[in-house]
Amino acid sequence: MISYQLKNRESYNQNYINSTENPEVFWAEIAKDNFVWKRPWDRVLDWDFSKPKISWFEGAKLNITENCIDRHLKTQGDKTAILFEPNDPKEPSEAITYKDLHKRVNAFANVLLSKGIQKGDRVCIYLPMIPELAISVLACARIGAIHSVVFAGFSATALSTRINDSDCKMLITSDGGYRGAKTIDLKSIVDTALLECDGIETVLVAKRIHSDIPMVSGRDFWLQPLLDTASDQCEPTVMDAEDPLFILYTSGSTGTPKGMVHTTAGYMVYTAYTFKNVFQYESDDVYWCTADIGWITGHSYIVYGPLLNGATTVMFEGVPSYPDYGRFWSIIEKHKVTQFYTAPTAIRALAKEGLGVVDPYDLSSLKILGTVGEPINEEAWHWYNDHIGKRKCPIVDTWWQTETGGIMISPIPNSFEGKPTFATLPFVGIQPTLMDEKGEEMDGNSVEGRLCIKFPWPSMARTIWGNHQRYKETYFSAYDNLYFTGDGALRDENGHYRITGRVDDVIIVSGHNLGTAPIEDAINEHPMVAESAIVGYPHDIKGSALYGFVTLKNEANSNEALKAEINQYISKQIGPIAKLDKIQFTSGLPKTRSGKIMRRILRKIAIKDTSNLGDISTLLNPEVVETIMKNSL
Ligand code: WT7
Repeated sequence: MISYQLKNRESYNQNYINSTENPEVFWAEIAKDNFVWKRPWDRVLDWDFSKPKISWFEGAKLNITENCIDRHLKTQGDKTAILFEPNDPKEPSEAITYKDLHKRVNAFANVLLSKGIQKGDRVCIYLPMIPELAISVLACARIGAIHSVVFAGFSATALSTRINDSDCKMLITSDGGYRGAKTIDLKSIVDTALLECDGIETVLVAKRIHSDIPMVSGRDFWLQPLLDTASDQCEPTVMDAEDPLFILYTSGSTGTPKGMVHTTAGYMVYTAYTFKNVFQYESDDVYWCTADIGWITGHSYIVYGPLLNGATTVMFEGVPSYPDYGRFWSIIEKHKVTQFYTAPTAIRALAKEGLGVVDPYDLSSLKILGTVGEPINEEAWHWYNDHIGKRKCPIVDTWWQTETGGIMISPIPNSFEGKPTFATLPFVGIQPTLMDEKGEEMDGNSVEGRLCIKFPWPSMARTIWGNHQRYKETYFSAYDNLYFTGDGALRDENGHYRITGRVDDVIIVSGHNLGTAPIEDAINEHPMVAESAIVGYPHDIKGSALYGFVTLKNEANSNEALKAEINQYISKQIGPIAKLDKIQFTSGLPKTRSGKIMRRILRKIAIKDTSNLGDISTLLNPEVVETIMKNSL
């Protein structure tokens, strides 16, 4: 019998060995003992990375919401499932018990059914961090509709692209949202987006800011009256193990965003098992992840992973700086949070504010701290350890991706410790490897290369919605028979992994994954712009910030106002998160003779490391390099 909880180094070692030597037996035991199934599987795993095809627990039938909610009702129906903390600290928090959640998800599911949503239909969710967001996600899963959550900070253009890419029939949104001192008018963004989306038949609108917004008759419906008259009983739809559960878009280095498709059973088993062990969740714990449910971190570790374990999961509507920079710490004190999971960029921003906003709060409830989204620098790690964890809380630096569905490399408290800047060892069942420049696997320790995964794990994305070929090219074509992550990593003398950052044209800004190509496309839309190139450079708070080199059709037009306009174009196409910190107008961009922009040179200029630019004599236009260097910001 394999234990669901890893208890110490030996149990990690033993489980790791079992999971890699005999993966099917291992995952079958974890799956059988810890979840409810309507029918068992015929086959645990079927895979072929060359196609690529990955299928886990084929033949099994289940519903993930029955595992997240129904099965906890008897034993802990009155326990808080979701603890909602509003933006305004004066507004009371709301404790939604498992019983309440059951009723609210069922009622919502019945509303979806009444509006003609069926199993397999795509439903786009564009909501701020209010309970309706988690509830609508679960309501979709209840009836087998595929949810596609779009982060509510994305622009109208970004929203409509995502709605159309997956042919969503319904959109769930709100009249608006609160973020710190700001009120966001979501519905008008939605109305603009929907001018481009013919497929949307129904828009459900939750009330949050109680603003007077226009409603399109026959299309837009206030949510609450529909919920009020809906039954709070709804039988879960029986799903196949490999039925899609959700689509979540992530930026790629080229082209349109990729709709990563996650399926039901494998995602359930892996997110539950990683949540339990990485955060060592115990039944009285109060767990808080500060991410937005619009990102994978929120899907896996605010909603599904915690609820699958019957946990209490905090959902925070606001921002770390409102009403002041002590907000996170005051919430930890208020709810006696035991596990706290956030991004390095937030830690750096808060550390900058000094201990005056930390020390007033009692953080003694904390047991485990986590980080995710980008490499954490040593200084931030120590600040977190010293001043938040008071040197008694293990820090789990969790490396994973939208595509991986769950945590892949991370310390496991009680089994082995973290060390600053290291994500450490692979989670049970994960087989990482490093590849060198020549495409050879790097054996042994103390090596650095490109991070790949050798063997399937249950929660890996199965395809890109509508574009399996792109899935294959992006993840399975760099190396035969390996999943390529896009990250570089080193393995130290003890076999511990440190993620060194992206090796492709993706830049991580404040923990957000941004592709350079879509940003360049947005800039190039400006009628005065000829072409542009984006690179990242280190930034104290954001980790990386964006530096844009922009060539104008007419150089005489370069001025500060145009820089602001360029950022407005980016905001409109993608969202404010993709704005450039620095914009340099240049008469040309360094190019190879085949016309490819040499980003390597621009990257060096952006970090002011121009002592060794390499051989630039083969460039088409070596003379521009000098000028760009002279005018660099
Ligand atoms: C990329 C994935 C799933 C987490 C949220 C981001 C970077 C993520 C770490 C970490 C160093 C990290 C990688 C990865 N990343 N976590 N602990 N240390 N880098 O999901 O938007 O899909 O981005 O984030 O570069 O490939 P995402």
